[in-house]
Amino acid sequence: MKQDQPYEQHLQPYVVTTRRNRDHLNLQVDTDHSLEVLQIEDESNAEFCELLNRSNQDAFGGPQDMGMPLWVLLDCGVLPSGVVGFMLPQEHTPPEIIDKLDVDEDYDGPVPVSEYCGCPTVEDDCISGFSLHSQLVGHGIATRTKALAMVIYGARSQIGVTQFYNPAIRVHVRFGAMEVLTHRPAVHTHPEDSFVYRVELPARKTLVNMANGSDVFGDSTLPEGVGWEFDPDNEMQQGRLSRHLQDGGRVWLIPPGWRATEEGCELHMVLE
Ligand SMILES: CC(C)(COP(=O)(O)OP(=O)(O)OC[C@H]1O[C@@H](n2cnc3c(N)ncnc32)[C@H](O)[C@@H]1OP(=O)(O)O)[C@@H](O)C(=O)NCCC(=O)NCCS
Repeated sequence: MKQDQPYEQHLQPYVVTTRRNRDHLNLQVDTDHSLEVLQIEDESNAEFCELLNRSNQDAFGGPQDMGMPLWVLLDCGVLPSGVVGFMLPQEHTPPEIIDKLDVDEDYDGPVPVSEYCGCPTVEDDCISGFSLHSQLVGHGIATRTKALAMVIYGARSQIGVTQFYNPAIRVHVRFGAMEVLTHRPAVHTHPEDSFVYRVELPARKTLVNMANGSDVFGDSTLPEGVGWEFDPDNEMQQGRLSRHLQDGGRVWLIPPGWRATEEGCELHMVLE
């Protein structure tokens, strides 16, 4: 689904990580452009990380909402694995992004335009993804970013939290059916709007194709069950979802996963 954008040919994948982590990440990825490894020990990468953090703050509503502090980027994103995304040379970065990120006049390095953060879990090959954002919305960049991150981490499954109202569900569900594990987790900044999910990821080759933009969807089989168009504004339906899970039933979101409606949105689910 790669679309012709003026910046398309200049998008370069990056990973921000540590010198020690290099040996544990899958850095030999057959991407269209070579992967740039930015080590935090190299102080010349500090400005890039500042921009990355500003971009994340912008995407997640700032420090009072879900924007992550710089120390979280380091402690939870960089140190356990790496922060993965795409960047552009400044001369090919849309001016509105340069303005929005308040890029310093003295800085002439690349500008991050997307980011994924995931850290390893106690379960082998399972990643806890805790941040995804894209400044170039609607061109498949978030999908490519998440796919690239999964390849670099060597992940086979992924857990995460998202909100019923977040169109990012359309991105996550491309990687496979999203099983709802926890409905409205009490421990969250927005508990009423959120759910915890898990995805079994496509084969590495498919993920590489998705990272390059040549594949849009993974190749997982869809779960069987009763289809349900779920309206998160409907408390009866929220209650039904909650009870179904409490009774040991399983629920998945399946493609396209999320759709805007006149009143709000609906989620495409299957109940076992
Ligand atoms: C959500 C987000 C990551 C999408 O990034 P993106 O680069 O546009 O994503 P992609 O192009 O890979 O895929 C986007 C899909 O979602 C749809 N989409 C993205 N934003 C949308 C919006 N605001 N409303 C409706 N649909 C939207 C796109 O149309 C596309 O679907 P389709 O091709 O099946 O029609 C981006 O808008 C963002 O950074 N949001 C703020 C941070 C955030 O909420 N992150 C998610 C945390 S779980």
